[in-house]
Amino acid sequence: MILFASVFLFLVALSISIVGYSLHYGISPMPSPRKAREKITALLPISEGKVYELGSGWGHLIFPLARRFPNLSLYAYEGSFVPWLVSTLLQKGLGYPNLHITRKDFFQISLKEADGIVCYLYPAAMRRLKKKLEEEGKPGLFVLSYAFSIPGWKAKKEVPLGDLLNSKVYLYVL
Ligand SMILES: C[S@@+](CC[C@H](N)C(=O)[O-])C[C@H]1O[C@@H](n2cnc3c(N)ncnc32)[C@H](O)[C@@H]1O
Repeated sequence: MILFASVFLFLVALSISIVGYSLHYGISPMPSPRKAREKITALLPISEGKVYELGSGWGHLIFPLARRFPNLSLYAYEGSFVPWLVSTLLQKGLGYPNLHITRKDFFQISLKEADGIVCYLYPAAMRRLKKKLEEEGKPGLFVLSYAFSIPGWKAKKEVPLGDLLNSKVYLYVL
């Protein structure tokens, strides 16, 4: 009975953490769909250099990228505790040496070193990210965004995924 109650309380605590961080960041750690991940992988313009994932959730996008591009240095930033913990434990098991997962608000990091950004965020975050990219992004920096465009920027490519929501992957080059 005590074990059952402890497991129940533990699960409740995890759920409260996920909901709390979703409210804080304005989005839940919902994984990108398989089609989007495949498209981002296919469109990735470089196979060496530094790519940042902003809001890496449970790692659904960053793990396939780490496997497919072993010569890329991948820096994943996730603010929500539970998805960060799960993806960090998974990485310890999978052991991709080119992947670095950090628990941090990505608006607090510098993007000056990044050669590319991948993300699946939401409109308000894209507006804020636009300003940050214009201040810190180096020439040639690419951005691959699933579902949400960067307002006011002209995409180099807009690739429809052919799903019911008519969602797209956007490729930008600074
Ligand atoms: C829709 S999920 C996408 C997850 C993952 N990128 C994928 O494709 O499966 C967005 C993630 O961004 C995280 N996030 C949003 N704003 C953030 C911020 N400012 N700093 C760190 N993480 C953030 C959320 O916690 C959430 O896990």
